[in-house]
Amino acid sequence: MKKKILVTGGTGYIGSHTVVELQAAGYEVVIVDNLSNSNENVLDGIENISGIRPVFEKLDCNDKEGLYTLFQTYQGIQGIIHFAASKAVGESVHKPLLYYRNNIVTLLNLLDLMPEFQVKGIVFSSSCTVYGQPDILPVTEDAPVKPALSPYGNTKQINEEIIRDAIYAGLPFKSIILRYFNPIGAHPSAEIGELPNGVPQNLVPFVTQTAIGIRKELSVFGDDYDTPDGSCIRDYINVVDLAKAHVIAMDRMLEDKSDKKLEVFNLGTGRGVSVLELINAFEKGTGVKVPYKIVGRREGDIEKVWANPEHANKVLGWTAHETVEDTVVTAWNWQKKLSK
Ligand code: UD1
Repeated sequence: MKKKILVTGGTGYIGSHTVVELQAAGYEVVIVDNLSNSNENVLDGIENISGIRPVFEKLDCNDKEGLYTLFQTYQGIQGIIHFAASKAVGESVHKPLLYYRNNIVTLLNLLDLMPEFQVKGIVFSSSCTVYGQPDILPVTEDAPVKPALSPYGNTKQINEEIIRDAIYAGLPFKSIILRYFNPIGAHPSAEIGELPNGVPQNLVPFVTQTAIGIRKELSVFGDDYDTPDGSCIRDYINVVDLAKAHVIAMDRMLEDKSDKKLEVFNLGTGRGVSVLELINAFEKGTGVKVPYKIVGRREGDIEKVWANPEHANKVLGWTAHETVEDTVVTAWNWQKKLSK
């Protein structure tokens, strides 16, 4: 029988790509999403790729009774991948309580219910934001967690601590915390991709919207950083590569491949790419110019961060394969499809 996995935030950007990979690996997926930052059409995209329409329940994970009913309805959920969260850094500064409620209470609700419904493990969607500006690059999982620069970043740190404390207290489940670097791109089929709400805050959707003419020009936030070309450096990881790591993490917990009840992995490529290099890669790969201007630094931005992914490479047997050059083209194909 297929193992059943609950994916919270499964109609979102990383969630939808992960659902497709879970289905390809033979898992049965139940999605819950409150559709606050996604829409139900994503299910069509998923079905067009996999041929399987995942079960979908519109539900906010803050609704504990609703979650309880869900676990009763879909008996036998063995694992959870918890993506559902608010993720706009700037908004979190203005609406901290919303972020703490959405990002923390939802996790508490899930952890509370896991023992009663014998859910074996939870994969948690964390971020390299927990490292702040690391002292040593590339950054390993042992690097210290730095004070968060926003309520959003703080929710990731607090959630990691909640999971750690729950497991140390002996609660009967396992967890794998995945710290993502900068996920970009779309499924190669262009059936699913990133759907930013309003003006994109993240670089790649802003680049693709500018290239297609929705935005007049891209603002590059700062060219006076201590980097070779002066713009910030990130580790941009292909979203399908990232999605595949979740399947490996789930297999690992459900098949008890490790004795450890809690593990933490960086998910990145190990390569740092500057904002200007990314624009250049986009222009080269697509043949489309991206009008941009250099503006001041964005508050709270980290100068440079990229992953040491060796732990995930060795222990999970997972490596990011796709290059930034190829990945920006998938983002472009998705943008063209959206704009048709
Ligand atoms: C941000 C968050 C990170 C979060 C992620 C999820 C910060 C410091 N980090 O990552 O915690 O997990 O979003 O959404 O906010 N840039 C431009 N012009 C733009 C947009 C971005 O130059 O219009 C630059 C930024 O200055 C940065 C790089 O592009 O150097 C990447 O930015 P972005 O895509 O927003 O990701 P992060 O800031 O790395």
